Amino acid sequence: MKIADHKNIAYTKAGKFEETRFEKIHNVIFNSSNEASLLVAQEIASLIREKEYQNQPCVLGLATGSSPIKVYEELVRLHKEEGLSFANVISFNLDEYYAMDKSNIQSYFYFMHEHLFSHIDILPENVNIPDGKISSENLYQYCIDYEMKIKSVGGLDLQLLGIGRTGHIGFNEPGSHYNSGTRSITLDHITRVDAAPAFLGIDNVPRKAITMGIGTVLSAKRIILLGWGVNKAEILKKTIEGEITAEVPATYLQQHDNTTFIIDEGASSELTRVKTPWLVTTCVWSEPLKLKAVVWLSELLGTPILKLTDKNYNNNGMSGLLTEEGTAYHLNIKMFNKLQHTITGWPGGKPSADDSNRPERADIPRKKVIIFSPHPDDDVISMGGTFDRLVEQGHDVHIAYQTSGNIAVSDEEALKFAEITQSLCPGCHETQSIINFLKIKTDNDIDSDEVRQLKGLIRRSESLAATRYLGLNDKNVHFLDLPFYETGTIKKNNLSKEDTDIMCRLIETIKPHQIYAAGDLADPHGTHKVCLDALFIALEDLKHNDYMNDCWVWLYRGAWHEWESYQIEMAVPMSPDQVLKKRHAIFYHQSQKDGVMFQGGDSREFWVRAEDRNRLTAKKYNDLGLADYAAIEAFKRYHFK
Ligand code: F6R
Repeated sequence: MKIADHKNIAYTKAGKFEETRFEKIHNVIFNSSNEASLLVAQEIASLIREKEYQNQPCVLGLATGSSPIKVYEELVRLHKEEGLSFANVISFNLDEYYAMDKSNIQSYFYFMHEHLFSHIDILPENVNIPDGKISSENLYQYCIDYEMKIKSVGGLDLQLLGIGRTGHIGFNEPGSHYNSGTRSITLDHITRVDAAPAFLGIDNVPRKAITMGIGTVLSAKRIILLGWGVNKAEILKKTIEGEITAEVPATYLQQHDNTTFIIDEGASSELTRVKTPWLVTTCVWSEPLKLKAVVWLSELLGTPILKLTDKNYNNNGMSGLLTEEGTAYHLNIKMFNKLQHTITGWPGGKPSADDSNRPERADIPRKKVIIFSPHPDDDVISMGGTFDRLVEQGHDVHIAYQTSGNIAVSDEEALKFAEITQSLCPGCHETQSIINFLKIKTDNDIDSDEVRQLKGLIRRSESLAATRYLGLNDKNVHFLDLPFYETGTIKKNNLSKEDTDIMCRLIETIKPHQIYAAGDLADPHGTHKVCLDALFIALEDLKHNDYMNDCWVWLYRGAWHEWESYQIEMAVPMSPDQVLKKRHAIFYHQSQKDGVMFQGGDSREFWVRAEDRNRLTAKKYNDLGLADYAAIEAFKRYHFK
């Protein structure tokens, strides 16, 4: 199926679908970014072939960043396996950091060659990427020439875009003019925060860039913008539904009549038709939608569920729901009970209790449990309280750390341990070579195998300290060191059979009744998502085994997001003492405390974030009218059969 075959393509400015009446930019929502990327690659390939047939060059405007990676991967595949030639392609990249050397692994020059140009037959002279090393005296003229060069080859036939959390396209940050051309620009703080992981810290992120202008982008005949993951949901809502404003430069795309936004479910989650469909059109009221709507109404009005009235429902687009359910009274009780039944202090099930209204089964009193933790601390950060309860309640709990987490250990921390080891064992060559390496390491150097090993070992000892504190025997702790992660850089390899075989072997050995995993879908290319994909593949491979009939999978969310109240299927409350115990377990991960490397845009430490989040979940439950707990950890069930 092509993008053009997708049902809401019928949207035009003149005749919108009822459903999309709040939207000012045509967009198509896909279940997965992979599936969507393949279709985008197909559209690009068709354009290249069509132009080739007409004996014309195909002028492509290209983007970097995480969003287009799969598109490029598919274009490379089409070249290698289906003979797609790029000989008639002339490419112009949107932007480059300034100042930035081509050879730097963080440069967009490097990125484009690594992901696309080195694998296809594009002519080197047809590749245009802003030169991050142009002297400041020549910069102004250079930008004018870049602009002129695009015009001289006939203008952009297709422009591929991502979107930044500031609403930037290219590096056109808030304040950019509608008619701006290629120029140098100062990067917004949020953009630099988002780029920090790739540069191993915000201090290393350049402050400036060269970017094509808004005017340059809008001159393209066709524009496709890619947006994946819930991190992009808010800015996409503003861009698609908001007024045109320089504060959100992507809103200028509302004036381009051949633009499509290709987004996944996470990225679409704030659009009115997705978030609150009852405000848009008549709804088919499924049970999950009813709960979502009632929770939304209660939060909107700041009124506990049991106090919502017929009038509240009618005034907020839910009169259809009321007619279906009878009265507010009946609907309120039904939804309140649903939420009430998610709460349990027995995450492994309460033995001998009536479990018809409990999230977990009462039978199999001693369950075998695997907690998958993408990095060696997500277990305690995201579900330390539940982990503790499972152990205390006598279940056979196993922790599986999926990756070594070595890149998140700073060089200073590693040097400290290497120097201690060296003092204990002065003649050790390996330790000396680690010390020598770390002392002269520059930003561009990838850690040696020995340094990575040391960093991984630091995280192992921290993990064991935390799991012992929570009463777990070392033999129940498994370090999987999945190979996809072991590149020594931020960019990881694709998942391979080797990774999923390791996951399968562990599941087969333990034959668990419960699996917990990080269902953190915020970043489609992040480690959490890859670790979850590895689990999904393993479950698919193993689901036909008898023992898997008894296996339930629960997803927790990572350090960044929490499930919405209406999505929660198991809520495990914590007492103030349990909150403290969880805090101490997180403290054992010393290398991740105090100004860690991958803090993201949130300056709170992980234990603070975890506590704030768990407290907030409890508060939300309380505001809905449920009991008042100190903190709650939340889970959603994943059905793999
Ligand atoms: C990249 C570019 C930027 C990115 C945007 C989103 O060439 O111009 O506008 O498209 O910052 O980045 P990702 O895709 O990494 O989320």
